[in-house]
Amino acid sequence: MIKRLMPYLKGYWLPTIFAPLATVAEVAMEVYIPYLMSRIIDEGIANQDTGAVVRIGILMIVCAILSFIFGIGSQWLTARAGAGFSKNLRSTMFRKVQNFSFANVDHFSTGSLITRLTTDVSQVENAFRMIIHMLFRSPVMMVSATVMAFRINPRLCSIFLIAIPVLGGSVAIIGMKAHPFFMAMMEKFDLINSVIEENLTAVRVVKAFVRKDKENEKFHEAAGGIKRAQLRAEHTVILTGPIMNMVIYGTTVAICWFGGRQMIAGTMKTGEFLTFIQYIRQILFGLNMLSMVFITIIMSGASADRILEVMDEIPDIDDSGADAELDVADGSVVFDHVNFTYKKNSDNYILRDINLDIRSGETIGIIGGTGSAKSTMVQLIPRLYDVNTGSVRVGGRDVRDYKLDTLREACAMVLQKNLLFSGTIRDNLRWGKEDATDEEIEAACKAAQAHDFIMSFPEGYETELGQGGVNVSGGQKQRLCIARALLKHPKILILDDSTSAVDTATDRAIRDGLKTQIAGTTTFIIAQRIASVHDADRVIVLDNGEINGFDTPENLLKNNQIYREVYESQQKGERDNG
Ligand SMILES: Nc1ncnc2c1ncn2[C@@H]1O[C@H](COP(=O)(O)OP(=O)(O)OP(=O)(O)O)[C@@H](O)[C@H]1O
Ligand SMILES: [Mg+2]
Repeated sequence: MIKRLMPYLKGYWLPTIFAPLATVAEVAMEVYIPYLMSRIIDEGIANQDTGAVVRIGILMIVCAILSFIFGIGSQWLTARAGAGFSKNLRSTMFRKVQNFSFANVDHFSTGSLITRLTTDVSQVENAFRMIIHMLFRSPVMMVSATVMAFRINPRLCSIFLIAIPVLGGSVAIIGMKAHPFFMAMMEKFDLINSVIEENLTAVRVVKAFVRKDKENEKFHEAAGGIKRAQLRAEHTVILTGPIMNMVIYGTTVAICWFGGRQMIAGTMKTGEFLTFIQYIRQILFGLNMLSMVFITIIMSGASADRILEVMDEIPDIDDSGADAELDVADGSVVFDHVNFTYKKNSDNYILRDINLDIRSGETIGIIGGTGSAKSTMVQLIPRLYDVNTGSVRVGGRDVRDYKLDTLREACAMVLQKNLLFSGTIRDNLRWGKEDATDEEIEAACKAAQAHDFIMSFPEGYETELGQGGVNVSGGQKQRLCIARALLKHPKILILDDSTSAVDTATDRAIRDGLKTQIAGTTTFIIAQRIASVHDADRVIVLDNGEINGFDTPENLLKNNQIYREVYESQQKGERDNG
């Protein structure tokens, strides 16, 4: 696992290497100081030699200052390395998630992806900082303190032979027990993020349906779940503290007992005794830190697993074999015996044996009842999903031959459930074309019947949109999305029920606008209103995942029963209303 995370240190190797070195230097000073102290006592004070006291005292001060400088340096380097590491890790993960297909995102759920990108990365960063700061500090401190202690009194050192295995063993056992609990805890974090995300994106629905109490309850439950999982995990690791203290006090008492007897017998000096206790404390303190490092590593092990899961996810739409030079020749679209289902390895197809041959520049209407797979069908054109069998060809080539960027650059799709992003209206429109001039933007908005309402805002094109475009109406949002798609000057334009929230007159004006703004673009118009598709070149009638009719509107009206029924019922509706 550590090997897999190493590449993310790119650009931060220097601080990663120098931080432990600075720590080692700091520790060397810390270990040397008690030794100097014992000399002050035993050489200077005991012999009443003021010169020696001053000399060794100055040396001690110098060591203290050096230790301070190295300490700050190591912290500084650790912070740099840690922050850089998590930046690399997060950006790579984010880039990876950008390559996910809709199906990959469905697999993790957005809430879980958010936890993995935020909390999990922070956990791993924490462990990483601990590793480069403490993992060297503690052993170096322990080893050098042991050496110094040995020099003073080898016989007393045998006490460690008992203390260290007791401490080491208990930390290892606790660690192994705690790991699954931490894994469970992170899963609870996923759950709470999902609840928060769902609630906040749908806050209007929550209010409209007065679901506040229910949502509170749901959150309360999720938060309670975290509490329980956290307590279970921490109850396990909490034992290390008391065990640690018991060992430290036990050893100190043992040393006072045995060391005291040696002092009385005259085989140990006062300074040596005091220093020895100091070293014992350093050794056990080092051991304690080491156990803390291990606990953090265990805690973050669960997070690292979860991060690697994201990294290991294979985007199920892959264009690595595609030819980067291949461009989309024109807007022709062919469906060749296409079968499709969202569930892998199921032959309960949602689209069954679809065959279509659409010439570049045609305007194609698509109608069909809700759930008849209209959206599903058009999503196959920009390869948002892959067909199960058969093929979809755009510009004469299988969509799988193109780089995804090339293909999607050529197709503009206004999704049924559309989103705008926070930023000004102009920023949002520029998603369609980054370097669009003001004239281009205005022309696209005029065609999409958006210019007039944009100008009615006091700030015009500079109006700030809230997250998701909350401060424009449904119909306005749809028109902005159409304008954004038009700016792309795509070879294929797909409007999935994109004018459902605008009135019939505006709907017609938009269709007229399309004709002038993007003449020559193959256009798919999915609509509930027959009027929206009645001036299309040809219309597809979808019925429960199958093509029921595909012809000019005039012919369909004569020959297709579904089309005629919808037409007549809508005509009747108009008459009744009018
Ligand atoms: N992401 C998805 N995962 C699994 N099943 C899905 C998914 N999206 C749609 N479906 C299913 O596919 C079928 C066709 O849905 P689709 O959205 O294509 O219908 P539609 O014709 O666009 O309907 P509407 O007019 O209501 O937009 C439905 O039965 C739906 O339950
Ligand atoms: Mg749909």
